[in-house]
Amino acid sequence: MSKTFDVVVIGGGPGGYIAAIRAAQLGLEVACIDAWRNAQGGPALGGTCTNVGCIPSKALLQSSEHYEHAAKGLAAHGITTQGLAIDVAKMIARKDAIVKQTNDGIQYLFKKNKVAFFHGRGSFVRAAAGGGWEIAVSAPAQETLIGKQVIVATGSRPRPLAGVPFDEERVLSNEGALAIGGASGQVPARLGVIGSGVVGLELGSVWRRLGAQVTVLEALPVFLGAADQQIAKEAFKAFTKQRLAIELGVKVEGVETGAAGVAVRYTGARGEVRLLEVDKLVVCVGRVPNTEGLAPEAVGLALDERGCIAVDEACRTNLAGVWAVGDVVRGPMLAHKAEEEGVAVAERIAGQHGHVDFDLVPWVIYTHPEIAWVGRTEQQLQASGRAYRSGTFAFAANGRARAMGAGTGMVKFLADAASDEILGVHIVGPLASELVAEAAVAMAFKASSEDIARICHAHPTLGEAMKEAALAVDKRTLNA
Ligand code: FAD
Ligand code: NAI
Repeated sequence: MSKTFDVVVIGGGPGGYIAAIRAAQLGLEVACIDAWRNAQGGPALGGTCTNVGCIPSKALLQSSEHYEHAAKGLAAHGITTQGLAIDVAKMIARKDAIVKQTNDGIQYLFKKNKVAFFHGRGSFVRAAAGGGWEIAVSAPAQETLIGKQVIVATGSRPRPLAGVPFDEERVLSNEGALAIGGASGQVPARLGVIGSGVVGLELGSVWRRLGAQVTVLEALPVFLGAADQQIAKEAFKAFTKQRLAIELGVKVEGVETGAAGVAVRYTGARGEVRLLEVDKLVVCVGRVPNTEGLAPEAVGLALDERGCIAVDEACRTNLAGVWAVGDVVRGPMLAHKAEEEGVAVAERIAGQHGHVDFDLVPWVIYTHPEIAWVGRTEQQLQASGRAYRSGTFAFAANGRARAMGAGTGMVKFLADAASDEILGVHIVGPLASELVAEAAVAMAFKASSEDIARICHAHPTLGEAMKEAALAVDKRTLNA
């Protein structure tokens, strides 16, 4: 006997679990199917984000930042440390405990909101006779569910280099890179990273701070091509100073693994053939949408040319009553974008007017200094021919940043030349991840740079750098 629900959500990552909770809040009867298994084979709700993405990476970034700060930053405060050491296995265990706490928290939220959870893989079977869609759940749960509406939120998985599968021992995806030293307690002496994107910079930073010699090989000739290039240059300078070696414009020719490590043959930017020998290699060259086991072909669910589930602006697929959100559809692969889409779809199903402003999805890279932005880059404005004014303010001139010993970086405002509407805000510096929220709020309310410049910001705060950069658009900074 199959069970019928108003909404069946396939995937319990940030797109799926948030959609399930919102739909339940709106009075719908909701089931969520998720396949993720923890080390004991039990459920581990939260998807990539909770298990091998956002949460564990931030836990390790925090631990490694404390360690590096204790080793290099405290002396300037007159604090001496002796016998400083890191217990890597304990650091990994702490990260695992935070992941588990988050898994359990989502299970609790499901119970609280009366979302029925099924642990296993969900696959489309056929259109149900009485309307809706039949979904089979397999291993470990065995069920057939009928969803009057279905939300697909099956996420993404790491893309391997052609012919170089992940073994998570020598050649690591994000999953292996977040678990290094968990059993051995060892930091690899030499770590190679292919791809200087978000994963490469964040996880490369973790292991560099803990003592690995990290070399990042990037195919593109520009660094962080999606970021504003003035900000990217500033970040590149800071990372190079930290001895994170980043080689741009390389072509990886071959990867060989052996008992002693991994050898990467590549052509450098000037055409020279080079060899990088490392103990472990992290491959982070992007992610691919995950439709494994979903059986979209069983019901004719259309994919696009990149293998994503094809959706319109409102996350509708080609099938009536089937929606898709998050990493498995077009757009940036970010947890908060997945969540916003999940909420909007649940609200649309309930007859409300869910909305996501894709122009205002912030980006954050949690390196040191952090990088964050929302809206257009200067390069995008130039390419579109939009007339703009720009204002920058360096953290070196911000009292709070100096007191924190975090004077590297800047805030940059871009505003329309005629109306002064803020078009983009770009930050490299301390707590950029938190500062960018002010920009997103301002832009959602269509604020001008003058609006921000006229708002009283507490002193001394990093937020004053936002106000000063807004003042700089009109060439009237007060502290620079
Ligand atoms: P996922 O989180 O991938 O969840 C999909 C879930 O569906 C998984 O549990 C999967 O097992 C399950 N599933 C798949 N197929 C089926 C099926 N057929 N049946 C049942 N279940 C199925 N983003 C940020 O915004 N901030 C960050 O700081 C950040 N850090 C990251 C760090 C790393 C190392 C990585 C790899 C990613 C990071 N991301 C970050 C990206 C973020 O993790 C993803 O954008 C986000 O998890 C996407 O959410 P989702 O719900 O679409 O998919
Ligand atoms: P990415 O798309 O951010 O970066 C991949 C990089 O690899 C690019 O710079 C690309 O040019 C390069 N590359 C591709 N093929 C290559 C090759 N053969 N040789 C050398 N370089 C090559 O992908 P990444 O870092 O794997 O992350 C995946 C996604 O996860 C990101 O797009 C992001 O959406 C998400 N994420 C978000 C985080 C955050 O929000 N802080 C943190 C980590 C991941």
